[in-house]
Amino acid sequence: MFPAGFAWGAGSSSYQIEGAVTQDGRQDSIWDALCRRSGAIHGAETGAVACDHYNRFAEDVALMKRIGLRAYRFSIAWPRVVSAGSGVVNEKGLAFYDRLVDALLNAGIEPWITLYHWDMPQTVFERGGLLNRDIAQWFADYSVAVVDRLSDRVNHWITINEPQVFISLGYGDGKHAPGLRLSIPEQLLAAHNCLLMHGRAAQIIRSRAKKRPLIGWAPVGRVEYPLVETPEEIEAARTATFAFRDKNFWSNNWFGDPAILGHYPEDGLRLFGSDMPKIDPRDMDVIKQPLDFFGLNIYSGTQIRRGPAGQPEVVPYPPGFPTTTMRWAVAPKSLYWGPRFHYERYKLPIVITENGMAGTDWVQSDGRVHDAHRIDFTRQYLLELARASSDGVPVRGYFHWSVMDNFEWAEGYKERFGLVHIDYATQKRTLKDSAYWYAEVIRTNGDHLSDESPYLNIDAPREAGASAPDVEPEADGHAKRMIETKSSVGRGNAL
Ligand code: FCB
Repeated sequence: MFPAGFAWGAGSSSYQIEGAVTQDGRQDSIWDALCRRSGAIHGAETGAVACDHYNRFAEDVALMKRIGLRAYRFSIAWPRVVSAGSGVVNEKGLAFYDRLVDALLNAGIEPWITLYHWDMPQTVFERGGLLNRDIAQWFADYSVAVVDRLSDRVNHWITINEPQVFISLGYGDGKHAPGLRLSIPEQLLAAHNCLLMHGRAAQIIRSRAKKRPLIGWAPVGRVEYPLVETPEEIEAARTATFAFRDKNFWSNNWFGDPAILGHYPEDGLRLFGSDMPKIDPRDMDVIKQPLDFFGLNIYSGTQIRRGPAGQPEVVPYPPGFPTTTMRWAVAPKSLYWGPRFHYERYKLPIVITENGMAGTDWVQSDGRVHDAHRIDFTRQYLLELARASSDGVPVRGYFHWSVMDNFEWAEGYKERFGLVHIDYATQKRTLKDSAYWYAEVIRTNGDHLSDESPYLNIDAPREAGASAPDVEPEADGHAKRMIETKSSVGRGNAL
């Protein structure tokens, strides 16, 4: 179902899990600042402690090893590495990532590093942040520090995460850091400067990495998929996936076309018209860098049908349609059509850099977290990804979001996305049933997905009162088979 060497992984980001916000010379980020603003975050919660991963990373890497992860995507906190965002490198901050990388490699887990997952140093913001074109140089300086330090052991690099989200929510409607509500021309400038950040970082990695780098990025994959899979309907969905309807930044190709094709999309330029900042044409040579993979963060999708004049039309989900606790529609087909449409347009291998769901997970009376919904969700999505792979889309990896419950931005701690449950009062970690199930998917390189009801057959831990059932690591570092699957109905023909 999946090619050999497939990167089975899970992801996280620095501000969402690390905590330790004043430890070892870390400076404020725009998220620390937003968390202090009254009413900005659910329950006035903050990332100050989060999962305390900064101090508990060894335990967390051990859990990843028990799941058998082959790869772990995490981000580096810019405000930990470059003091005051000024170019002065904070040795203690960098040393943390050194230790983390070593621990991962010792556990047989490939580190995949994201350079920017939203926690911009507050000082960089105070100097204009994304509205100041110098940010590309500041980001390049920070990238030099990270690449010089870690690229002897790390070769998977992701420049930036989800520009669509940090522009729309951070600079448009103010719900995310830095909490601004700017005009469309200003948002266009911020979006352009973040593309320059991406380009400069890719140049730095390519030219300085000690191990041959594989470079990608992790934009939002907004997927509009055909309700009916006929050629005309597929065409309508493809058009919708890459078309401009409104003046906003929830676009795949406003970011994808410059980064991969070297120009902004024509219909977007027409729509934005005189709102566009003056662009130096040489910027496009910086923004368009050779990439080794196209990362996609895909959680949901929109159903499309072809309207009477051939134009795409959204088919609303009916009342009561399945959603997660984020109220995102459960749309497994997005993991087929998203990769396929993006591969056809950009011709780059695809990596699913995020996919997962938030649910109502708690440690139940038997000490376990029975998250059958997450198993079913992930299984359905992965079967669609397998379909894309067997239809010829070169899919190279899948990163479940998230490895552990964490600080979900403006939603605080109320949304739980993890394979590992976190009790925030005690910092106790508990592997959820989905973690055991995912271990089996990884161990079988996806074959386990053919079992139609694995989530009904999760073995209870034998030890009385055990809250974290044991999976002994095998010699190869991958988790031992834990789940007894009594049924093999559908095996081999589920695709
Ligand atoms: C994505 C973010 C990630 C997490 C998930 C649920 O938009 O990249 O940090 O919040 O959504």
